[in-house]
Amino acid sequence: MKFFLDTANVEQIKRINDLGLCDGVTTNPSLIKKEGRDFKEVVTEIASFVKGPISAEVTSYDYENMVKEAREIATWADNIVVKIPMTEAGLKAIKALSKEGIKTNCTLIFSLCQGLMAAKAGATYISPFLGRIDDMGEDGVELIYNLRTVLDNYGLESQIIAASIRTNKHVEESALAGADIATIPGNLFEKMWTHPLTNAGIESFKKDWQQFINRNK
Ligand code: G3P
Repeated sequence: MKFFLDTANVEQIKRINDLGLCDGVTTNPSLIKKEGRDFKEVVTEIASFVKGPISAEVTSYDYENMVKEAREIATWADNIVVKIPMTEAGLKAIKALSKEGIKTNCTLIFSLCQGLMAAKAGATYISPFLGRIDDMGEDGVELIYNLRTVLDNYGLESQIIAASIRTNKHVEESALAGADIATIPGNLFEKMWTHPLTNAGIESFKKDWQQFINRNK
């Protein structure tokens, strides 16, 4: 499973990219707002050092402007993927953009029907929002399982991005459910490589090694 960074924070992306663990980046208008920087400037800066796909979202919601905006965003770098919301206009835009060879990520997917329709429209990626589904008292991971089954049943090529990831368990269960990608908030990565027993083990090895060295002086 690939790891994308779900953030527009350049420092966080650099840190994970330096570990070789950043296969791509996803952003959205809320994440751009959080950084307080110009949209194009931050996306092109990320594209200058991340080789994998970088999703940048349209902010128009009608078909004509969505397509116009998507065509412009797609020129910012070779690895741009245009994020399009899951609406009627969005489906139409995904179909038109895919015919032009512009890669799309259909976002805000909360049901199997939505995912299936986005895949049939030709979305390169589809993004079910796990955390927000769980917030409603439903099962976000189940949607990943079901999408995997349906895409495989019909040979649909869209890649599943498990999005709105909040916990290590979301990442692990998305992998088990067959998501192609998990897009992970920058601050969650640290929790993924950390375990209290690893830290305790290191402390105990350090202590024993020091005692061994002292004894053999
Ligand atoms: O990738 C979508 C993600 O940014 C939404 O996450 O935590 O706002 O539900 P969240």
